[in-house]
Amino acid sequence: MNRPWRALLFVQPIALFLGGCIVSSRGPDGGVTAAAPATAVPPLRSVAGARAIGAAVEAQRLREPAFARVLASNFNSLTPENDMKWINVEPTPGTFSFRAGDALVAFAEHNGMRVRGHNLVWHTQLAPWVAGLSGEALRAAMIRHVGNVVAHWKGKIRQWDVVNEAFADGAGGELRHDSPFTALGAGFIADAFRAAHEADPAALLFYNDYEIEGLGTPKAEAVYQMAQRLKAAGVPIGGVGFQMHVDPRHWPDPQSIRQNLERFAALGLAVELTEMDVPVGEIPGDKTQKLEAQKRLTHDIVAVCVAVPACSGVTFWGLTDRYSWLNDPEWGQLRGRGPHRPLPFDADYVAKPMAAGIAAALAGN
Ligand code: G3I
Repeated sequence: MNRPWRALLFVQPIALFLGGCIVSSRGPDGGVTAAAPATAVPPLRSVAGARAIGAAVEAQRLREPAFARVLASNFNSLTPENDMKWINVEPTPGTFSFRAGDALVAFAEHNGMRVRGHNLVWHTQLAPWVAGLSGEALRAAMIRHVGNVVAHWKGKIRQWDVVNEAFADGAGGELRHDSPFTALGAGFIADAFRAAHEADPAALLFYNDYEIEGLGTPKAEAVYQMAQRLKAAGVPIGGVGFQMHVDPRHWPDPQSIRQNLERFAALGLAVELTEMDVPVGEIPGDKTQKLEAQKRLTHDIVAVCVAVPACSGVTFWGLTDRYSWLNDPEWGQLRGRGPHRPLPFDADYVAKPMAAGIAAALAGN
């Protein structure tokens, strides 16, 4: 590991001393300082109990002391936002690049955090050379990719998103039309899970998707039936990830989300909220009212996970409003007008009311 990565491993003790998040004053680096708090939010990981509270992270952000400190003091789980995706770990056929992922895993190990690997088989951020493959050549490349990547982090990654977003949006419930893997037939999903299990039998293997959070959508039904079939066929699927990229304009209510999680759990699967964010751009009111509404919405959804024993973790798709995929206009428009401020800590790493809502829900309040 190069020097810059190693230096960041020793941030944690300082963060622990600061403990929790001060809602009011800011330090020179915009991070947390030991001033008299307005409303203290406990470190999220300190009230999570056995449940995972996670954040999506890019290795480059670990260079920022405030980012590393808030990450290590509040979260007991991390998910690589982009660094373990195919385009980054196997940019050319059979040549693997694990440096950024290794840095994330090292940081996690040093700070007592688990790692959710994300992701192995997905139609986006595929290395360009994959697009030229089809049939048996594509299937072989997929299995080699899964095998090598999982083997590299064997015993270090607790959960893997093995297959991500394989089903089409909309009414059909069929596999996506814009994925090269669809041409292999639905069997590619079981093939990917078997290859991952062979490489690390101890890792819990997930199918991960969005807009499957509530009951009644064709996509949620299709994923449920897929999970039933895989379980019945003895395929080593261990869990389902519900991304929870909330759209406050229209979202399933907590009861529908709970019943949905419970039916997947009844199949003997773990369930997790894997990519949560709650944009406020389209929430009515001024900033204070938007952030209070965000707090309530976030609280109620996290409370659903706390109420479902098989729901083993909640991960946010980032930690600070400073860095979110929704800050990119191309993506942000999916959630209407910005600014979206979708995450628990503001751009200065100060805990928002949303963080207080998360802490209360994790504590069962
Ligand atoms: O790495 C290149 C960099 O070299 C280049 O200079 C820069 C400018 O074009 O682009 C960089 O790649 C970007 C990459 O993020 C890393 O920052 C891609 O353009 C950009 O499209 C990519 O966006 C990611 C997106 O997935 C891709 O679909 C987001 O950061 C990431 O948050 C998002 O995450 C997905 C989950 O994996 C799956 N579920 C939905 C979620 C949100 O879309």
